[in-house]
Amino acid sequence: MRIGLVPTMGALHEGHLSLVSLALGEADRVVVSIFVNPSQFGPGEDLASYPDTFDEDLMKLKEAGVHCVFFPSVDEIYPNGFSTSVNVSGLTETLCGKYRQGHFNGVSTVCAVLFGIAQPDIAVFGRKDAQQLAVIRRMAADLGLGVEIHAGEIIRESDGLAMSSRNLYLSPGERAQASVIFRGLSKAAELVLKGERVVERICYSVREIIEEAPLAAVQYLELVDPNTMKPVTKLTTPALLAVAVYFGHTRLIDNVILKP
Ligand code: PAF
Repeated sequence: MRIGLVPTMGALHEGHLSLVSLALGEADRVVVSIFVNPSQFGPGEDLASYPDTFDEDLMKLKEAGVHCVFFPSVDEIYPNGFSTSVNVSGLTETLCGKYRQGHFNGVSTVCAVLFGIAQPDIAVFGRKDAQQLAVIRRMAADLGLGVEIHAGEIIRESDGLAMSSRNLYLSPGERAQASVIFRGLSKAAELVLKGERVVERICYSVREIIEEAPLAAVQYLELVDPNTMKPVTKLTTPALLAVAVYFGHTRLIDNVILKP
């Protein structure tokens, strides 16, 4: 019997449900965890206000055919005396890791605990969090956790905005402008298709489109190697164009693989 795990922090949307359906296709029993993990939030981040739609989440998961929903308390995951932190080095130093100190330690630690509890054969993560996916893959391989890591595609709203629980924070004005992120990333793919290989020119064009939105503030926009997350200076092999953009207090991330 193959067990599939889909770790989530709740506030479920179509993106999560696509991970669930991927897990249901690969495993005999699927567990979804809902746990807003305090250790992956930094001071001043949105731990206290993280959207909570628990009853709706349960209904969606029941309808999707999930076999088990695991919603532990903080004490169950981090009992008194808990002293372990899993640090994946290298991969966590760029992109979000640069701006969210300790974030990936929190993510890899909680995932290691969840893997220990659920003992899954497979675990499914979304490609929107591309750096998280790479970190978990590295951790699972390095620690010999015996869990296959599967990746689900980014699911988008009709205007291209990547689905995220944090989209719920956007004001109508911010929401209307947030589609510039996808427009920017699509422009990059189009330029590469037309033969552009100069990283600065690609990034400049994307930034220009995103910054057309008066409410957008780009935190980072970088082309990196999809396996190491290190910046690339030449587009000779597929590379990950990753972006983090603030709309007011809401920080959104997105990415695209550029294939020369
Ligand atoms: O992507 C998320 O929702 C979280 O980072 C995860 C993987 C559930 C760990 O808390």
